[in-house]
Amino acid sequence: MDAIEALKTRKSIRLYLAKPVPKEIIEDIIDCGRLAPTARGVEPWEFIVVTDVDTRRWIAKTTDFGGFIADTPVCVVVLCRDTKYYLEDGCAAAENILVAARAHGLGSCWVAGDKKPYAPAVCEKIGAPEGYKLISLLALGYAAENPSKAKRPLSSVLHWERF
Ligand SMILES: Cc1cc2nc3c(=O)[nH]c(=O)nc-3n(C[C@H](O)[C@H](O)[C@H](O)COP(=O)(O)O)c2cc1C
Repeated sequence: MDAIEALKTRKSIRLYLAKPVPKEIIEDIIDCGRLAPTARGVEPWEFIVVTDVDTRRWIAKTTDFGGFIADTPVCVVVLCRDTKYYLEDGCAAAENILVAARAHGLGSCWVAGDKKPYAPAVCEKIGAPEGYKLISLLALGYAAENPSKAKRPLSSVLHWERF
C-alpha cells in the first residue's frame, strides 16, 4: 500500500480481533513514529508499547472514551518531554504511527491524552519520569469492524490564495 492509499483509507477502529500483532510490525510502526518532523530537531518523544492485559484494562477504565483498549491487542502510549513544541511533535509522531499501522494492514484509534485529567495518572502507571506529557494512547490491532464516517468534502475545506 502506498502512502496516499494508507492516508485515504485510515479510519478509527474500536473493535479488534484477538489476534496478536507481530513484534517486527510493531517495531516498524514505532520506527515510522520516531521519524516524524520535530521542531528544532529535539525529538522529545518516547513510545511505550503496552500489551499487558491488566495495564490495558486499567487504561480502559481510567480514560473516558478509551474503554475499548481493554480488548485491543496493543496500546502505544506516546509521551513527550515538556519542550516548547512537545504537542506538535508528539501529534506528528502519533499520526505517523496511525498511517504506518494502516500501511501494515492494521486498524488504529487515537485516544486523547494531552489536556485530559487522567494524563498524569497514565504517566505514573507506565513509569514515566518527571517532566513527561501524555500525548495520546494509540490502539492498534487487526480490525474487526469497517466503520464509515462522512467527512467534509475537499471543496468545502480547500481555499486557493485566500479563505
Ligand atoms: C486529539 C484526538 C483525540 C481523540 N480522542 C479519542 C478518544 O478519546 N476516544 C475515541 O474513541 N476516539 C478518539 N479520537 C478519534 C476521533 O474520534 C476520530 O479520529 C474522528 O471521529 C474521525 O474519525 P476517523 O479517525 O475514522 O477519520 C481522537 C482523535 C484525536 C485527533
